[in-house]
Amino acid sequence: MIVILDFGSQFAHLIAKRIQQLGICAEILPGTSSAEIVNALNPEGIILSGGPASVYEENAPQLDPDIYALNIPILGVCYGMHLIGKRYGTVERGTFKEYGRTIVRIEKRKGILGGLSEQEEVWMSHGDQITRINDFEILASSQNCKHAAIANEEKRIFGVQFHPEVAHTVNGMKVLENFTKICNAKRDFSISDRKEKIIKEIKEAVQGKSVLMAISGGVDSTVAAVLLYEAIGNRLHCVFVDHGFMRKGEKEKIDEVYQKMFSNYYSIDATNKFIKKIEGITEPEEKRKVIGHTFIEIFEEKAKELKNSYPDIEFLGQGTIYPDRIESAQPTNAAAKIKSHHNLTLPEKMQLKLIEPLREFYKDDVRILGKELDIPLDILKMHPFPGPGLAIRVIGEVTKERLELVREADAIFIEELKREGLYQKVWQALAALFPIRTVGVMGDARTYDHVISLRAVTSQDAMSADWAKLPPEFLKKVSSRIVNEVKGINRVVYDITQKPPGTIEYE
Ligand code: XMP
Repeated sequence: MIVILDFGSQFAHLIAKRIQQLGICAEILPGTSSAEIVNALNPEGIILSGGPASVYEENAPQLDPDIYALNIPILGVCYGMHLIGKRYGTVERGTFKEYGRTIVRIEKRKGILGGLSEQEEVWMSHGDQITRINDFEILASSQNCKHAAIANEEKRIFGVQFHPEVAHTVNGMKVLENFTKICNAKRDFSISDRKEKIIKEIKEAVQGKSVLMAISGGVDSTVAAVLLYEAIGNRLHCVFVDHGFMRKGEKEKIDEVYQKMFSNYYSIDATNKFIKKIEGITEPEEKRKVIGHTFIEIFEEKAKELKNSYPDIEFLGQGTIYPDRIESAQPTNAAAKIKSHHNLTLPEKMQLKLIEPLREFYKDDVRILGKELDIPLDILKMHPFPGPGLAIRVIGEVTKERLELVREADAIFIEELKREGLYQKVWQALAALFPIRTVGVMGDARTYDHVISLRAVTSQDAMSADWAKLPPEFLKKVSSRIVNEVKGINRVVYDITQKPPGTIEYE
């Protein structure tokens, strides 16, 4: 096992994930943890993460010096390396800061840098750097940073100024792997162990009480609910609120799957309430707010009813994953805003404690875990779908008729993507309805009808995205099917906007 001491880095979780990808257990502890606590975990190696502070700053988090005496290999990353530099030499504010892609010259291709090329592309993000260090060899340098990688092989202490954990460091995984080999770290981490661990943690946390959970039909909430179900069985109560903005046939499928999966499943048809509340609203944020609030209102009502019947409901389960927690720090992200409604107000009002089994997970691991839990593949491989559903894909006013247009067009687009084996090649695909009508001609007659925009994007994490280069023949087929089969649509356009500047959704 590798212990990661977190000095406030955005990337400590990513380091842990990378170590786990190597098949090795990783545990994150606060950077200032004592040697005793670290040693109690019996780690084979220790990684000191980066962090925003400067090592000489007042209150800068420091490493317990007794950790060096444990004789366990140490790898310092960025700030973590500066901590080593402070002990064995000097760290100073560099004349040049380095941010982003940087080329380093590998002077000694051995140890943690074994198997790398003479020049490597790495990702740097630092102002400070080591200017002098005793007893260490310099393994790599960049133009502005002499100590880009250092080693003391005898003490088995290493440091890298760059971030091996981020994807922009092309051979970063190799550096981490080399370090774990030096540690002789056992490759005994598996996702099924992780599953067992989560289930054990849930049991310990809920202590025989019951959990209420809203499930959406999406990957995250389904995987979280199944983990909870494995842990506490019929003490889990799952609620699905149908707002009427789901895709074609989705509600029926969700009910069928969930009914089989969980013993206490409640499906609430709130379509009329939502459509009434959203009537006449055209402003996107307002729409999202109304949908979010209505959702909470309905869920709260059901929660009260269930709490009367099952007074031991003390927890609210959520499918929050790690990136959601990062994003919720960004008030501009609407997804996070909607989620934060659920996260903050509901548990407080209902006096429920939150339980989030996936809070440390990234999406790809959630999918792996889902597979391990035998969750149907069509749920696991489904494209992301926004909480407010098709309501934010009907641009402008939402009516039942306009929802139907977008629902039908979307169903054709998705059906064709699946038929042509393109569905899994894109991150997300959708149809949206523009709030305008245009002139067309059909069977010699003039038409004046609605416009559908198709959008398909490729992406890693939805933070940035490119429009998918779908084959023209494919688009032609989808376009003619939509115009021929969906009455009220006479024009189809394909969106070729990247994110940024465009978002994936239209509202
Ligand atoms: P944007 O439109 O911001 O979307 O580029 C990025 C990703 O987030 C999804 N999205 C949401 N997901 N609730 C969610 O659970 C929401 O309110 C929401 N809004 C956008 C979007 O589909 C894309 O995958």
